Amino acid sequence: MTIEATARAHPNMALVKYWGKRDEQLMLPSTGSLSMTLDEFPTTTTVRLRTDGGPDVLELNGVVAGGDAAARVTRFLDLVRERAGSEARAIVRSRNEVPTGAGLASSASGFAALATAASAVYELPQDTTSRSRLARRGSGSACRSIIDRMAVWHAGTDDESSYAERIDAPELAMVVVVLDSGRKKVSSREAMRLTAATSPFAAAWRESTARTLEDMLAACREGDVTRIGELAEVNALRMHAVIQSTSPSVRYLSGRSLDVFDGIESLRADGIGVWGTADAGPNVVAITRPADAAAVAEALTSHGEVRVVRPGPGARLLEDPADAV
Ligand code: DP6
Repeated sequence: MTIEATARAHPNMALVKYWGKRDEQLMLPSTGSLSMTLDEFPTTTTVRLRTDGGPDVLELNGVVAGGDAAARVTRFLDLVRERAGSEARAIVRSRNEVPTGAGLASSASGFAALATAASAVYELPQDTTSRSRLARRGSGSACRSIIDRMAVWHAGTDDESSYAERIDAPELAMVVVVLDSGRKKVSSREAMRLTAATSPFAAAWRESTARTLEDMLAACREGDVTRIGELAEVNALRMHAVIQSTSPSVRYLSGRSLDVFDGIESLRADGIGVWGTADAGPNVVAITRPADAAAVAEALTSHGEVRVVRPGPGARLLEDPADAV
């Protein structure tokens, strides 16, 4: 019996955003979404089964974690144990290689790595689709980080049908512009609830996103980078619009974020194919062609620290014991 496994996963950046759940228990999203898995900022996680009867322990970057983070991991492991018919508790050690201040969310890479390592030690099915479904239960967007390069998350109607899958797409690059590393004031989960409960535009957001996903899938199939960028930018700004329309209003973009969007627009006016997106925080990510990435990074560097990222690998087990956290 294996008692320890280590897995590595990377964050993903959505080009069609997931913002809203139809079932919070099963973590079913209200619409499908689409993202690029990044080749930077990995999370490496080792899960070790306890043989001494002690409780679950979560260690993040060498520090034992409590509170919400630990409770979320225990809830996730409870689901794993229920499926595996096991009572064994675990020690989870996780290391994020997000540079200090990158402000990139680590819940997607974190739960993708945890689902992969836990599936191995608890002897659950380890195929991509099963791990994607499982990772979804920890954090919705984590189901996409199981997949390499480009993934579509099928909204589905039940646990079985809601998972991410690889799609073909033209080669893209992204320039991450780091503006702020502070913890967000309102978590995505909380703000999604608030959106569903209070925004008069929530239904319009769901309907338009479902249509955008269809258009985005067609643009990916056709290899149309311009269309992909245009759709992604509009979808991101619509997400921020619906978020701002909550009561009380939540606003993740700052004045500096809007300055970056302006910078992107003026690069476009100069003939460079570049479009903006942003998740639930102020950092802006520019989407472009690999050949233009260096010029875009150079142009945006006055706004904040920039990092060029490319399509990266899906979550996978690391076999070398030296990789254990
Ligand atoms: C803005 O996946 O972090 O990044 O499912 O509640 O854990 P939970 O939320 P999470 O939300 C991600 C929101 C987003 C958009 C996206 O990645 O699609």
